[in-house]
Amino acid sequence: MKKYATVILLSLATLAGLRAQEYVPTAENLKAREEFQDNKFGIFLHWGLYSMLAQGEWVMNRENLNHEEYAKLASGFYPSRFNAEEWVKAVKASGAKYICFTTRHHEGFSMWATRQSDYNIVDATPFRRDVLKELADACRKHGIRLHLYYSHLDWHRDDYYPLGRTGRGTGRTTHGEWKTYYTFMNNQLTELLTQYGDIGAIWFDGVWDHDADPDFDWQLPEQYALIHRLQPACLVANNHHQAPFAGEDIQIFERDLPGENTAGLSGQDISRLPLETCETMNGMWGYKIVDQNYKSVKTLIHYLVKAAGRNANLLMNLGPQPNGELPATGVERLKAMGEWLATHGETVYGTRGGDVTPRDWGVTTRKGNKLYVHILDLPDRGLFLPLTTARVKSAVVFDSRKPVAFRQEKAGVTLTLPETPDAIDYIVELTLKEG
Ligand code: GLC
Repeated sequence: MKKYATVILLSLATLAGLRAQEYVPTAENLKAREEFQDNKFGIFLHWGLYSMLAQGEWVMNRENLNHEEYAKLASGFYPSRFNAEEWVKAVKASGAKYICFTTRHHEGFSMWATRQSDYNIVDATPFRRDVLKELADACRKHGIRLHLYYSHLDWHRDDYYPLGRTGRGTGRTTHGEWKTYYTFMNNQLTELLTQYGDIGAIWFDGVWDHDADPDFDWQLPEQYALIHRLQPACLVANNHHQAPFAGEDIQIFERDLPGENTAGLSGQDISRLPLETCETMNGMWGYKIVDQNYKSVKTLIHYLVKAAGRNANLLMNLGPQPNGELPATGVERLKAMGEWLATHGETVYGTRGGDVTPRDWGVTTRKGNKLYVHILDLPDRGLFLPLTTARVKSAVVFDSRKPVAFRQEKAGVTLTLPETPDAIDYIVELTLKEG
């Protein structure tokens, strides 16, 4: 008997020990996750020295640019038209609720007044302004949340070592040590989380640089714990293209809606964490002068709605120009999205993926006892919804409030629309019976 009791006690102690290392999100963090999901729409801004070369943020790797030569770009970086307030106003006009800004991309240049290296916008450029500080202030003033992109990999520093599979032609001497680099990153993250107010999320990228040597230890749990210690509500995200690791608060998809994999980066399982998918407005993240191929307003709205129907947020990217302005076509698109959201936002913000899973014709979103049927493509007035989880009390067209005829059977509900849908998003609002 005594022996069993000892065994049980020992197992409990081991379990408790294990638990102590497990990540348990705080109440603030769980609340932040809900708010993040309610916000539904954010704008990604990729801006760095690469913007000057105007060929996207991977130019250094693609053209095997020597990192010392590349660094000379800094002394010519003077984005004379940068105005954080204008950026934030354009974002606000789009109906987006947060910005994700590249604080330091793979090129290794820091876009804030970091003390950890001189290779930053204040010390190394004639501009000498802490653009992150200006952006953080403008966000706070206009009620926009600020998320920070931070690259794990670095094509510039010698202590990003051992090298990964990218940036092999940038001429680093690789004399440095991972330990120094890891400390450098954690010191930078500490600055970001202590000097710029509340940060909505840290959005990591680059872990895939070591996917050919999967045993490489990034020491992520300790880094995530540091973030959560400094700001418990700050969400940790990592664009590693895998199912979430312990310590992460949201799951990211790149260039595909959750469940789809056209870009080849999204075969991973969909977790129960809040989801976000990021996409470019033209074809590139960083500014690319020859790429004027901006997605249409219709495509952008469809992408947002399709993400919402899959229970995911949309993070839509724009690459600011080297002069500091947002590209004019992008700003126009943002405005048009905002105009649509001003009248239809109720069917997107604060919703979760609806009871009927995504279909060829569109998606559903759910908030309380409302189920919004977003018809994106239907050449017909009749629509069968395999809705078996709830009973419909009433159905109207969201815009016109015209009644929609419906017949509910065991297998679902058949709607007969008053007209053939021809709006960007023809929404039917179903009021469901309680209970
Ligand atoms: C990829 C690219 C990077 C970009 C990111 C955005 O990981 O390497 O340049 O910032 O996707 O999702």
